[in-house]
Order: sequence, then C-alpha cells, then structure tokens
Amino acid sequence: SRTSLWGGRFAGGPAEALARLSVSVQFDWRLAPYDLAGSRAHARVLAHAGLLDAEELGQTLAALDDLEAACASGSFRPTVDDEDVHTALERGLLERLGSLGGKLRAGRSRNDQVATDLRLYLRDHARGVASRLVELASVLVEQAAQHVETPAPGMTHLQHAQPVTFGHWLLAHVQPLLRDLDRLRDWDKRTAISPLGAGALAGSSLPLDPVVVAKELGFTTSAANSMDAVADRDFVAEFLFITALAGVHLSRLGEEVVLWTSQEFGWVELDDAFATGSSIMPQKKNADIAELARGKSGRLIGGLVTVLTMLKGLPLTYDRDMQEDKEPVFDAVDTLELLLPALAGMIATMTVRVDRLAAAAPVGFTLATEVADWLVRRGVPFRDAHEVTGKLVSLCVTRDCALDELSDDDLRQVSPLLTPEVGTVLSVESALASRTTPGSTGPGPVADQLASVQDKLEGW
Ligand code: ARG
Repeated sequence: SRTSLWGGRFAGGPAEALARLSVSVQFDWRLAPYDLAGSRAHARVLAHAGLLDAEELGQTLAALDDLEAACASGSFRPTVDDEDVHTALERGLLERLGSLGGKLRAGRSRNDQVATDLRLYLRDHARGVASRLVELASVLVEQAAQHVETPAPGMTHLQHAQPVTFGHWLLAHVQPLLRDLDRLRDWDKRTAISPLGAGALAGSSLPLDPVVVAKELGFTTSAANSMDAVADRDFVAEFLFITALAGVHLSRLGEEVVLWTSQEFGWVELDDAFATGSSIMPQKKNADIAELARGKSGRLIGGLVTVLTMLKGLPLTYDRDMQEDKEPVFDAVDTLELLLPALAGMIATMTVRVDRLAAAAPVGFTLATEVADWLVRRGVPFRDAHEVTGKLVSLCVTRDCALDELSDDDLRQVSPLLTPEVGTVLSVESALASRTTPGSTGPGPVADQLASVQDKLEGW
C-alpha cells in the first residue's frame, strides 16, 4: 500500500491516475542532498527547542548520515510509491528510526521544505554554471589576445561597415558573458533567504528559530513573511531569465561561428575534435556545436516562459501548480553544463585565418568613413563630407575599383576638397590605429580592454 503523508483523514489511498499525475520523484530526486541538509538543520533546531533530547538528536543525525550515504551509493532509491523527494526521504528515515523518524515533521511542511531545497540546489548549481561561463569567456580572451591587431571587416546589417580588429570582435562576445556572471552574483543575494520556518504558510507555534536554521544552511537570513516564503518563486523565474539571456548570447556566438566557418567567409577552421562530418558527403565539416548553441537557446527561453506563465495569477500561497517549476530549471542547468564546455573546447581549438580576414577588411569600401572623417578634420561639415565621399564610392562602383586605386585627378574631379593627402587615411592599418578612444577598436584600447577583462575573470 502507498505510504501516505495524510493517512488519518482519508479512507483509502489515491487513485492510480492521481498518483501518476502527481508524482514528481522522477525529477525532484536530485534535490535529495539538499533535503537531507535541511533535515539536519531542522533536527538541530528542534533539539534546541527541547523537542528532541540529546539522544534522539544523535540518533536522528546518524540516521540522516546513513541515509545520505545510501542515497549516494544508490542502495536507497525512490520507489514507484514515493510521491516526491520529501516523501521518499521520510520513508528512508522511518525505516532507520521507527517512530522517532516522524518527529522531524514538527514545525515543517513540504511547502517551506521544497522552496528551501530548490534555493539550495540552485545556489549550488549557479556556481557551477558561473565557472563554465568563466571558462568559455577565458578561451575567448585567449583567442582575442592573439588578434589584438588582426584586421577584420566589422559589420552592421551583416554588410561590411568599418574595419575592426578581430580581437575586439571576440571580446564583444566576452562582455555579455561578464554581464551574465554579474547577474548570477546579484541573483544569489536575493536567493540567499531561507523559507524554512514558514511551515505550510503561517509559521510555527513551536519555538523554532528560523534565523539559526537559515545560517546553518548558508543563507544570510530567513524570510520576512511566511506566506511570501512559500509562495515566492522569483528566484526560479530570475534564474531562468539569466540562463535564457545567456542562451541568447551563446546563440549569437554560435551563429557567427557558423558564418565564419562557411565556404563564403572561410575565416575560421574548427579542430576535427570539435566538428562533425556527414554520413553521405565525405568532404563535409560542420559546426554542430555552434548550431546546438543556437538551437538550445530555444529551450532556455521556453523554460522562462513556462515558469512565468505557470506563476501568473496564482493565489497565495502554495499551489500545486508550483511543482512545475523544477523541470525547467533543472533543464536549464543541464543544458548549460553540456553546452558551455563544448563551446569552450570549440573556441579554444579553432584556427583563425588571419590572411582571409585581413583581405576582407577593406572590401566593400569599409574605409569610406575615414575619408568623411578626414574632411571633417579639415573643417567640412559632416553632411557635406558624407555627400562627397558617397560620390567617391559611386565612382569606384562604376569603375569596379577600390578607393585607394583612384588617381589624384579622379579625386579632384569628385571634389576640390579631396587633395592627394586623403591617401594617408585610405588604409585599414591607419583606420585601426586612429581608433584610440577608450572602448574603440584600435589595438591600443583593445589591449587595455583585454587586460581589464582578464583581471575580472581572474577575480571570479
Ligand atoms: N512536490 C511538491 C512540489 O514540488 C512539494 C510540495 C508539496 N506540497 C503540498 N502541499 N502538496 O511543489
């Protein structure tokens, strides 16, 4: 027969269809170590309140240790009759302690328990996700360090725009990851609040100090409102926003690697270990990791939408709908733990084709802005400078030539303002070297940016 937590009031066990719908142990079992940690803290606070004597506390803690070892070794497993992780572990405790095992239920409910377990799990795993983000950011930085002076055609609208250094481009993928790391750190401050002590929703009539329990579990303090403590899933939604946004960042990096490794770009060659082949086309080398980065952002965004939709309009306090909060966050953690190391390996081992990048850098009149800026430095209003330079580009298009291939006569004919000295700005090198302001793409500011990013990553 089904071990039930509410036997007294009920004439019989739950219907099979209810049990099958209701069971969550197949996915919430991963909360077991955190549930056991919560039980240890709760046992101590019960003893402190005189509700367990010293011997009972000793026996309870020993049984919890034994149960934890049995869970770790796999000798204790949830069964089909266990509804959730809390039910399963209570069964394990009762098997070890007999009726003494039932004392731990005092002053605690699955409502404050599950909220506590999930906070503990996420705070722990957010640290793991953060380390993987740091690893990816670090290999991007290592690649960037090789390309502080490598020219590339910077783009807007996927059209050649202005020359940039490839190191600057790679660091432009690091900056969002640093913000993701910042967000995780900030999220942790709000998540470090313990719901234990809230009980089902109203707190406890027993003299249990929730602040002591909170501190023991590594939280900063306990919840200010017992109703909010069991109703609040902001920490889940916020975590899913952070992982969804990180997923978006990874998808943009992934999309660029797909482009860079295409025949048409040919800027980057992936290491064989981080690329895939085709079962039919022997020549193929595909950037599947980059594509999976792009694709998996969908499920990360989906998880956020799932939880926000589930929470919307729920009456306070706990509602069973909230059991649906776990699979999306577990999936987000699993997805990033799989994806980030693969992306890091791919970036660390890729070869950048400096020759192809440099050759592409001036293509598409990316130096046109240099001409306009040169005119501005000579006192020409930018509006007129833009017009003159546009005519110059138009002449090149007609002639099918590059800006630096026009003669002094051609220049003069377009505008008397265009003296031969304009030739000094018509190189990618000079365009890059002239970008000296903080945050811009010149080798100088990129070296500064690199140093500051390395600093931040080392401090993580
Ligand atoms: N499995 C439940 C969940 O994940 C635990 C809390 C159940 N509480 C309750 N009163 N039914 O949300």
